[in-house]
Amino acid sequence: MSIARRNRADKRQLGQFLTPNRLSRKIVDYARPKITDLILEPSFGSGSFIESILDHFHDKNVSYKNAAKMIAGVEIDTALYQQALHTFHAKYGLSAKDFAELSCDDYFRWGSDQATLLHPEKYFAKNLEKYDLVIGNPPFGGTFDKQIEDQLDRIYGFRLGEKIKKETYAFFIIKSIDLLKDLGRLVFICSDTFLTINTMKGLRKVLMDTGSVRIRSLKEFSDETSHPMVIIDYQKGPVASTVYVDNDEISVADIKQTPNYSWKINSELLKYFNGKLCGEYVVATSGMTVGKNEYFIKKIGNNNTIEERYKYELFQDPITLTKELQKARLGKLSEKRKQEIQLLESKGVTTTNVKVSLKAKPTTVQLPNKNYKYYNKGQTKRLYANPKYVIYWKDAGKAVYLFKYNGPWYLHGVGGKKYFEKEGITWQLVANKLYVRYLPSGYILDSGSPAAFLRQGIKKDELYFILGWLATDIATDILKKVINHTRNIQGKDVERMPYPTWVSATDKKRAIAIVKNAVANLMSGQNTDTDLTVAKLNSLFRQS
Ligand SMILES: C[S@@+](CC[C@H](N)C(=O)[O-])C[C@H]1O[C@@H](n2cnc3c(N)ncnc32)[C@H](O)[C@@H]1O
Repeated sequence: MSIARRNRADKRQLGQFLTPNRLSRKIVDYARPKITDLILEPSFGSGSFIESILDHFHDKNVSYKNAAKMIAGVEIDTALYQQALHTFHAKYGLSAKDFAELSCDDYFRWGSDQATLLHPEKYFAKNLEKYDLVIGNPPFGGTFDKQIEDQLDRIYGFRLGEKIKKETYAFFIIKSIDLLKDLGRLVFICSDTFLTINTMKGLRKVLMDTGSVRIRSLKEFSDETSHPMVIIDYQKGPVASTVYVDNDEISVADIKQTPNYSWKINSELLKYFNGKLCGEYVVATSGMTVGKNEYFIKKIGNNNTIEERYKYELFQDPITLTKELQKARLGKLSEKRKQEIQLLESKGVTTTNVKVSLKAKPTTVQLPNKNYKYYNKGQTKRLYANPKYVIYWKDAGKAVYLFKYNGPWYLHGVGGKKYFEKEGITWQLVANKLYVRYLPSGYILDSGSPAAFLRQGIKKDELYFILGWLATDIATDILKKVINHTRNIQGKDVERMPYPTWVSATDKKRAIAIVKNAVANLMSGQNTDTDLTVAKLNSLFRQS
């Protein structure tokens, strides 16, 4: 994780979006805890859920003291922890010792000593199953304690043969399931992105394969975030054959027919998942980020020219430990590596770097020019669009690579490099539909526009066939409803799209001819009705 991300405001880092009492009360009432239940709130913030549990039981004539005995809570933030204690005292006359346990701790350290963190097998050897209900609103998109981040990955990062994404809410869910007794329940507020994104496939599998799940969307959350949220209601124990998502009952068998174990699959779209995926034909990639676009990316202006305001000079840059630490993952380097760098520093060893500075006067460059290549930024166009940008690419991109390599970020590589300048298809990354288009050879790839390329040995016509398929409204429907309903359309999402085996050989030929023709017309600047072309493709690719 970069220094910049780590240095974000604390509130954001800890995923501190507190739940209004009105909402936590609704959720507690929905969960209907029993007074014999041992309940855990693993990140209680200022205490919203704990207050609601106390209120819930009080309404059932259970004294605050008796209810508190059954409640355990953890919160990492000292100020929020103190604030909660204050509230519990002022509102209910309770102090910390009245509760089963209240800890100001990191949930991932809580209950695990240093030895357990260092040796995951110790964690798995313990009988952790203690709670009847784990309830709350775990941090979403928070950061981990970097001292134990890698250890946590070893403990929580892999279950039932699948990767569990190193995300705070994912690891919160895994740890909480570990702490539940048989038939115990987990009721968490969670981001709705969880329902389809492939990175959470492993987590969905754990939930489906170790119990039963019901999802309820939470139309309104709090003023603090406009992000769509859901409630996960999971019960550990007998494995159910369906997952409920609001009023839909989705068969686990159908879910498992989708490559991402989508909790948004429906019977209408299931028929498209017949086994073959586009990924058998194309390999997709993200593009690059250059670190500072302004330096290297130029907008193509009138008469096919660009204005060049910068000059680029290579120089020898002394290697220093300070700079290397800035670039290192988590700002950390091994002692051995530090010593190696210090040795280089003391010997005055240098590395080639690039200096970018403003020219005294901008120059106009006529395209094409051997020092510039087309740069494939996202566009909301289908089938084909003329390039809008070029990238400074003298000596095969040397200045860009050096700038990226030497910058104060920890990812020094360049995404998609292997595919630069190849012919393929491309689409806009952040979009509500698949704006997919033909990518001629010769382009450098931008991260805002992933691209896919034919695998070795696949006939060229397949590129047009897949382009035609992905341009259809049905493809957008499948992608946005089943594969990934968030804003981003990643390379892997396109690889996970079904490959249209259902199209007859004759229709396949027709589709290829339609796409080839449309692309050729658009490239030669002829007026082409893309919507009409897509309408024709819709009818060829739709399954009855
Ligand atoms: C989304 S807020 C919700 C707080 C509270 N559950 C509520 O519903 O109002 C997430 C909480 O998790 C806490 N938190 C973040 N990382 C934590 C960790 N590793 N261990 C315990 N608490 C953590 C934050 O300080 C924050 O209070």
